[in-house]
Amino acid sequence: MKRRLRKILSVTLPPEELTYIYHSYDIVGDVAIIRLTDASKKYSQIIAEAIMKVHKNVKTVLAQTSPICGDFRLRKLEFVAGENKTVAVHKESGCLFSVDVEKCYFSPRLFYERMRIAKQVGNREVVTNMFAGVGCFSIVIAKHSNVKKVHSIDVNRAAIQYMQENVRLNRVYGKVIPILGDAKEVIEKRLCHVADRVLMPLPEKAFKYLPYALLALKKAGGRIYYYDSEHAKKNENPVEKVKLKVTEKLESLSVAFRIPFGRVVRTTSPNWYQVVLDIAIK
Ligand SMILES: C[S@@+](CC[C@H](N)C(=O)[O-])C[C@H]1O[C@@H](n2cnc3c(N)ncnc32)[C@H](O)[C@@H]1O
Repeated sequence: MKRRLRKILSVTLPPEELTYIYHSYDIVGDVAIIRLTDASKKYSQIIAEAIMKVHKNVKTVLAQTSPICGDFRLRKLEFVAGENKTVAVHKESGCLFSVDVEKCYFSPRLFYERMRIAKQVGNREVVTNMFAGVGCFSIVIAKHSNVKKVHSIDVNRAAIQYMQENVRLNRVYGKVIPILGDAKEVIEKRLCHVADRVLMPLPEKAFKYLPYALLALKKAGGRIYYYDSEHAKKNENPVEKVKLKVTEKLESLSVAFRIPFGRVVRTTSPNWYQVVLDIAIK
């Protein structure tokens, strides 16, 4: 597909723009989201048509015109071509995710992480997802493990509404529990010491909210999936840098822990990495 797209676009686009486009679009259901450089803006229609030609299922092309920002992790989108809409239903690992890409965070790029975690969840375990969005991690876990419950918290009302729809679409009633609110308040008020595993898929807040993830875990301990964003120069290892930061924090809280696994989930911009650590708390 990428080869076909490259072939179509190489007729019109300068080679440097071509490489950028080709690495920087997402497909969410039947909606494609493209990122454009200043130079490639004038080619937006051509790019959109080429994407729709190559990905026959794509009905809408939107352009991302701002970085992902704010508490809800949203981006500004502009309509480019096709049907003018922002709602899509995305298929992943046998699950369906309905999402309004303008009102809720969604990334198709995290599919491997979602499945990696689902595979670790044990029989009748309880999971707390502190930053659940439209419920993607929670639903993949509910569908691919024998989890008892996934408490799925999000502060964005629109995300919770889509999560409720996704619970219906995937028939995971009673397993994925949508909860509207700030994760730290919800945990303090009603989810202390209930979880075997805690997910923190929000790099911007994970470090600050780490004490609440500890509070959410059962007194016997459990596992925290900690996501962070780290800068690393060529000679530095971003995973080791995050490990050091988390180790200092957990030691200061006198917590007994191990970090059995860590990896770079993706590169977000030059020298910036999204990192996950699996932290075993005793
Ligand atoms: C990066 S998104 C991850 C969403 C989801 N886990 C996914 O992968 O699709 C982070 C989510 O955390 C939510 N959020 C931000 N601050 C929050 C808070 N204090 N408590 C609960 N949710 C929060 C945002 O609304 C957003 O939906």
